[in-house]
Amino acid sequence: MNRYIFSILTIAIASMATTASANPDGQQLFNSKCLMCHSLDQKKMGPSVKSMSTDPDSLRTIITMGKGMMPAYEKKLSGAEIDMLVDYLIANQ
Ligand code: HEC
Repeated sequence: MNRYIFSILTIAIASMATTASANPDGQQLFNSKCLMCHSLDQKKMGPSVKSMSTDPDSLRTIITMGKGMMPAYEKKLSGAEIDMLVDYLIANQ
């Protein structure tokens, strides 16, 4: 990947993460769909948010495709909703 594009992406991702801490939609989605299996800092059925991967692509892939007991959200959430969740997870790590 060319350096210029890479720095644009880095800035875009960093600013997304900053807005995510005040991301009520991501928090609401997480509380209604994920909190029964994931808490921010304690292991429940699934890992705590703080112990999850910090790589947005890997988070997005697991939420989309599922893994083991983790349900796939490909047909239940839109791409934009999954992005909000990824931002919320990263902002809370
Ligand atoms: C039925 C319980 C359940 C629900 C609901 C659930 N998860 Fe999970 N999740 C799991 C389990 C169990 C794992 C561990 C999967 C494995 O590694 O085998 C997991 C793993 C993950 C991972 C991978 C963590 C890592 O880096 O290893 C992410 C990200 C994740 N869940 C996000 C979410 C989000 C976002 C939601 C809500 C849209 C959600 N999960 C809803 C049970 C659940």
